[in-house]
Amino acid sequence: MNLRHLLSRVLARRLWLSFSRINNQVKKPPYLEGLCLFKHPQNIYLGNRVRFLRGATVLADLKGRIILEDDVIISRFAVIESIGGNIRIGKRSGVGDFSNLYGQGGVDIGEDVMIASGCRIVPTNHGIDDPSLPISRQPSSSKGIKIGNGTWVGTNVVILDGVSIGIGAVIGAGSVVTRNVPDYAIVAGVPAKILRFRPGFTAPKLIPDN
Ligand SMILES: CC(C)(COP(=O)(O)OP(=O)(O)OC[C@H]1O[C@@H](n2cnc3c(N)ncnc32)[C@H](O)[C@@H]1OP(=O)(O)O)[C@@H](O)C(=O)NCCC(=O)NCCS
Repeated sequence: MNLRHLLSRVLARRLWLSFSRINNQVKKPPYLEGLCLFKHPQNIYLGNRVRFLRGATVLADLKGRIILEDDVIISRFAVIESIGGNIRIGKRSGVGDFSNLYGQGGVDIGEDVMIASGCRIVPTNHGIDDPSLPISRQPSSSKGIKIGNGTWVGTNVVILDGVSIGIGAVIGAGSVVTRNVPDYAIVAGVPAKILRFRPGFTAPKLIPDN
């Protein structure tokens, strides 16, 4: 084991004391690849074997909790920021390099979800109805975002507020997701539209929408 490895293990153990744990089954400390940034670790709840790669930034606050379940991986320079809302990332899910995940209206990511690099998950919108007021002073709305188990979010995808993505869905690279996505759908484009369903699955009779 080289010095860098040793230091990062010592740091991870030290940090372990300030994080919260999801439950009392959690015994395995996180792995830190290099320098990472954390805020309000008492509101960051970890499962076993969570991995933070170099530059990962996880910012909770006094109101917003961030829950990272067993075997979650936060890749290089990804930013997870609660901004007053709760964020849950389920078991074995991963957030790719340089992705940003904000929490305002709440974000719930299921298990085995792959979020590729450069994605933006943004559960809030500024009000724009009153043209006499700067948008920065209009009230914002935040409904939250859900991503079902086993979904794959391609690189550079943007997911907007209020969207619920079903289980096993595929979101094509570069898509902007503005509407709900049914289970096992493959969607792509700006705005994202259904290309087809994964083999063996068909469209539900009534596609749930926002
Ligand atoms: C969505 C995706 C899985 C679809 O793959 P596929 O089923 O093989 O789809 P096809 O290549 O047969 O394309 C079907 C149609 O959708 C279009 N399409 C595919 N991906 C698209 C995308 N990301 N955005 C817009 N249109 C897309 C194709 O141009 C094609 O259109 P056409 O029928 O008019 O020619 C794939 O294109 C994709 O985006 N993968 C993500 C890759 C990635 O982000 N990797 C990161 C590593 S984790």
